[in-house]
Amino acid sequence: MLPKKMEEALNGQLNAELYSAYLYMSMAAYFESINLAGFANWMKIQVQEEMFHAQKFFNYINERSGRVIMRAIEKPETDWETTSDVFEHTYKHEQKVTSLINDLVELSRSEKDNATYNFLQWFVSEQVEEEASVDAVLQKLKLIGDFGPGIFMIDQELGNRVFTPPAAVTGV
Ligand code: FEO
Repeated sequence: MLPKKMEEALNGQLNAELYSAYLYMSMAAYFESINLAGFANWMKIQVQEEMFHAQKFFNYINERSGRVIMRAIEKPETDWETTSDVFEHTYKHEQKVTSLINDLVELSRSEKDNATYNFLQWFVSEQVEEEASVDAVLQKLKLIGDFGPGIFMIDQELGNRVFTPPAAVTGV
């Protein structure tokens, strides 16, 4: 059985993962609106990643006989000035998610909830990847600038991103 405080906090994280999906969907819509289909594709894959994360929290709360409570999802931003602005925002957002995961790990320790502590380790590693993959794009954007022809090369590259369900590798 999940400690009550842990159940509450995991429900909060489920909401944060759904918000992340919603935010990235909004970014995909922004890229579609400026005809950068590759950037939009990258964000759509990011949406799938976040939905996978959300599903993982959903399943875990249920597996521990907790109660999933769906909450309102905050309205995300809809407009940015440049492609770099979008990725700066994404990078900051992922850093915030990392700190939320770290807070959950701390709570699992103070609640002596070893099962949740173990469950969260997957997310600790996942956040390293999440931050690194965003930063890789951000660094390229900083090198080429926002309005040069290089933006179309990056657009092509980002158009190749595909979703690989982590479940196939790690289990859910
Ligand atoms: Fe679910 Fe991008 O962290």
